[in-house]
Amino acid sequence: MFRLGKERTAFGPIFCAVGARGFFGEGYPFHKYWRYAGMTWKGTGFAGKTLTLEPRRGKKFGEEGNMPLRDDGLTPEELFPRSIWADFGNGGRMINAVGLSNFGADFYLRTGRYHSINEPFFLSFMPTAKDPDGRSAELKAFCELLARYLPFRAPVALQINFGCPNTGHDPSEFYTEICTLIEMAKSLLGIPIVANTNALMPTAILIEAARIADALWIGNTIPFGDKGANPYIDWSRFGGISPVHKRGLPSDGGLSGPECLPLTLEKVCELRNSGVTVPIVGGNGIRTVKDLERLYRAGCGAVFVGSLGTVRPWRMRGIIRAAHEIFT
Ligand SMILES: Cc1cc2nc3c(=O)[nH]c(=O)nc-3n(C[C@H](O)[C@H](O)[C@H](O)COP(=O)(O)O)c2cc1C
Repeated sequence: MFRLGKERTAFGPIFCAVGARGFFGEGYPFHKYWRYAGMTWKGTGFAGKTLTLEPRRGKKFGEEGNMPLRDDGLTPEELFPRSIWADFGNGGRMINAVGLSNFGADFYLRTGRYHSINEPFFLSFMPTAKDPDGRSAELKAFCELLARYLPFRAPVALQINFGCPNTGHDPSEFYTEICTLIEMAKSLLGIPIVANTNALMPTAILIEAARIADALWIGNTIPFGDKGANPYIDWSRFGGISPVHKRGLPSDGGLSGPECLPLTLEKVCELRNSGVTVPIVGGNGIRTVKDLERLYRAGCGAVFVGSLGTVRPWRMRGIIRAAHEIFT
């Protein structure tokens, strides 16, 4: 558990991964079958799926986004979306190239459904313009939009997503912008701002980000084939081609799974050894109670789980219970 904001609101100790439960907690339609295998989110805090300023409804509309949604803007058209690949062997892993499919932030904010969430939660936003000025303008426009709907009933913190590998950005594009973007969001919104990155984000950048951000959220997916993940991830095990690319998607996607967790652990240790004191929420590939203990010892104040719910649903209950004991 950790505290954020002027009111020192308690968040945690365990959250759903961003994108794992959809926009308002509705989850994916296939989750209803997974409940028979013990899947539950009970006891986890909520982190909403990443929103963008402009809609990303997919090819049919001439827009970006690889997971077409029905008119409700929530439900994937396919029961098992092509942009999500799950491997139930190898400790359980997923590769997704969903590409931040959504109908645009205004669509979700207008529904008023964030107002019905009762416990502290996270919203997530990613600026997706191709150039820095465009990204800054997008974040500003989003913050001004969100500010019109605040306060919600429950305390909210905003995650800025600097880690999605499925938008055609090289994450290094953000290196020089992270602090400016966080600072801007803080001043426009007055709510806690959290930097969401994968574990390949250079430590020096995260140290700078931690001076301004209220917390770090480390463990977004690892871009398929990224050599920065050596030696932990052996990409040759995937036969040299991304399973989602094989399905005809334009992106190679990002990996969630146990191979990624050592990268998170290493990054969190480095940050703590460098004197970073802000809360860190860690994850990517949590599968066992031992993983929780390792993250705790590394210096995480809370954890998140996403792919676990799909590839090892029967472990959710035990992991959630253990997280509440370990991260009190
Ligand atoms: C189907 C799917 C959708 C995702 N959507 C998002 C998203 O919208 N925004 C984001 O920051 N991360 C997204 N992620 C990444 C997860 O939040 C998480 O960082 C990653 O899956 C690793 O953690 P896990 O192994 O516990 O799932 C998504 C992951 C998956 C598998």
